[in-house]
Parts: sequence; structure tokens; C-alpha cells
Amino acid sequence: MPGAKISALGCYVPPGVLTNQDLERMVETSNEWILERTGIVERHIASKDIATSDMAVEAAKIALAQRGIDAREIEAVIVCTVTPDMLFPSTACLVQDRIGAKGAWGFDLIAACSGFVYGLTTAAHLVMAGTHKKVLVIGSDTMSRIIDYTDRGTCILFGDGAGAMLIEPTDVPGEGFIGFLNEIDGSGGDFLKQPAGGSRLPASAETVEQRLHFVKQDGQQVFKYAVRKMYEMSRDLLQKHGLSSKDVKVLIPHQANRRIITAAAERLGVSCDQVIINIDRYGNTTAGTIPLATRDAIEQGKLQKGDLVVFATVGAGFTAGVNLWRWAY
Ligand code: UT7
Repeated sequence: MPGAKISALGCYVPPGVLTNQDLERMVETSNEWILERTGIVERHIASKDIATSDMAVEAAKIALAQRGIDAREIEAVIVCTVTPDMLFPSTACLVQDRIGAKGAWGFDLIAACSGFVYGLTTAAHLVMAGTHKKVLVIGSDTMSRIIDYTDRGTCILFGDGAGAMLIEPTDVPGEGFIGFLNEIDGSGGDFLKQPAGGSRLPASAETVEQRLHFVKQDGQQVFKYAVRKMYEMSRDLLQKHGLSSKDVKVLIPHQANRRIITAAAERLGVSCDQVIINIDRYGNTTAGTIPLATRDAIEQGKLQKGDLVVFATVGAGFTAGVNLWRWAY
């Protein structure tokens, strides 16, 4: 059975920036409150003509160019998103067509902030099964389209962005995908959701008037679950593979709140300089955070070939996921 490695990475964020100072003019908040409670300074926001597939295509093209391959070599495209351009056709279909991945199949994967880690887990298994040689995993979310910019509890948190990773086989022992621990807990569904727009509450004048197409969140419930799960699941996965936090070179967590990240890392026993935090510049880009943070880790020289990396995410659902990879380039 072959192993699976990440062989390329591409990211894209739209140029528009929304700062804490901008938000001060929109809702009752302050730069100090946002910084202290979340660690966010600014986030990127897509212009009206940009949708999730547009950012996904840009990220995919960068990954393909980095690897120096033609899109026709891609066998599957997985787009992780909660903000597809539309429900169908899937964003994977739109991206497949735009990048010219003629031989690929694919689908959208809905797991909110855990989407990218679930996508990586799925792609790794497609490759390890020996049935696929090149799988493109893309996390792309235009959160600004489903955020209520009159709700100060959520509008300060989210930004737009995308990232893509290429997954390929490896026959180098120990390289690439090591293992995963993924978990869903639907009993937490009410704490973070977009209530309307599906078959339960289709769009109507009432759902629009009641602002039910926007993200609703009980921040404290999500916070507590996130700290606990990121820590427990990372610890358990390391243990399962006979490893400990001492073996970890970098922890790349979902970027939801700086306090969530530091609390989970502290419990795990991973030092500050081993944890990648870029929430200050991007906010929470949902499925985009893991590839964006991975890019920063590489650019800062913190993630290099042979390093053990933990990807850890928690999101709406609840969904939670942890992956262990030994970095391959
Ligand atoms: O990827 C998963 C997605 N989501 C998350 O991970 C979110 C997890 N949760 C959080 O990040 C935090 O719970 C928040 C940042 C959302 C809120 O921070 P908190 O420390 O949990 O604040 P809180 O909800 O306990 O609110 C404390 C106070 C409240 O005022 P009172 O009731 O004490 O008078 C809020 O009304 O802060 C108030 N508040 C704000 N004040 C200024 C809430 N949002 C704001 C704001 N600016 N933007």
C-alpha cells in the first residue's frame, strides 16, 4: 500500500481588507476588545464579483504551478466549503471546469471549519487505496456572504480566503500521512449554524426579514468545545501512534480565536513558537485557515521536510478533526 504525501500548496485571499477600525464604525465594538478577545487585527473580504469558486481556482492554479503539472493529471477535486457558489452544481464541478481538470471527478465537502482536515483525510485514503495518484483538496470560503454585519458577536471573527493542497502517493517510509482522528457531535448543532436556506427553512420573505440566512453562534459554547477537543484529540492521536507533543515540530490549528489556540496548545504542551497563528491578518476563513497557516509556517521556515505536523480543527456541527503528517517537501 503506498503512502500519501502533500506535494504542493497554493493560497489566495482577496485584496480587500476589513480592519477592526472599520468594524468600530459598523457595530458597537472596539479595536481593543477584538484584539484582546480574539487576536484579530484585520480580515480579507471578497469584492461583490468574487465567489468561492473564484478564490478556489486561484489557489488551485498556484498549487499546480508549484508542482509543475497540468490540471489534466488531477483525478479528483474535493472542495471543502460552507459557502458554495450555489448548492448545485457543486463548487468542485465549477473549479474542475475552470482549471481544466478534464479527467477528474469530485465533490463538495461540508464540515465547516473542520472541512479541510476532513478533505485531507479523504484524499489521503483515496491515494493510499492505490486508486488515485493526484487528488486536489481545496478549502475555500466567502464567509462575508453569510455574516450579519449588524451582529457584533460574529462579524468581527470571519474573513474570506482559500487554500489548496495536492495529495500524491509516496513510497518513502514514514513520509506523509500518518493518521487521523475525526469526530462529529450533532448535539452541538444549535450552537453554530446558518438556520435558513435548506429544506427545513427555505428562503422566504420571513427568513430574510429575520436574518436567518446569516451565521448564528453561541460563542462561549463553541469556545469551550473547541479548546477541549483540539487538546484531547491531538493528544489521543499522538498517543495512538506512540508519539507525544515532544515529537511535534509544528501545530497548525484552525484559526478561530487566538485564545482557543493558545489554551489548547498549552494543555498539549506545545510551546508558543511551535504553534502557527495568523488569525491577526486573516480572521477565521473557515475551510481556508489550515492551508493559509501552513503557507505561513513554510514561509517562516517553521515547517520543513521531515517535520511532524499536527493539523487540528473544530467547527460547526460540531465537527472536529486532527491529522498527523510528516512533511514531505
Ligand atoms: O470556527 C469555529 C467558529 N467560532 C468560534 O470558534 C468562536 C468561539 N468563540 C469565541 O471566539 C468567543 O466566544 C467570542 C469572541 C465570540 C466572544 O468572546 P467571549 O470572551 O466569549 O465574550 P462573551 O460572548 O462572553 O461576551 C462578553 C461581553 C458581552 O457583554 P456583557 O453581556 O458581558 O455585557 C458581550 O455582549 O462582550 C460583549 N461583546 C462584545 N463587546 C464588544 C460580544 N461581542 C463584542 C464585540 N465588541 N464585538
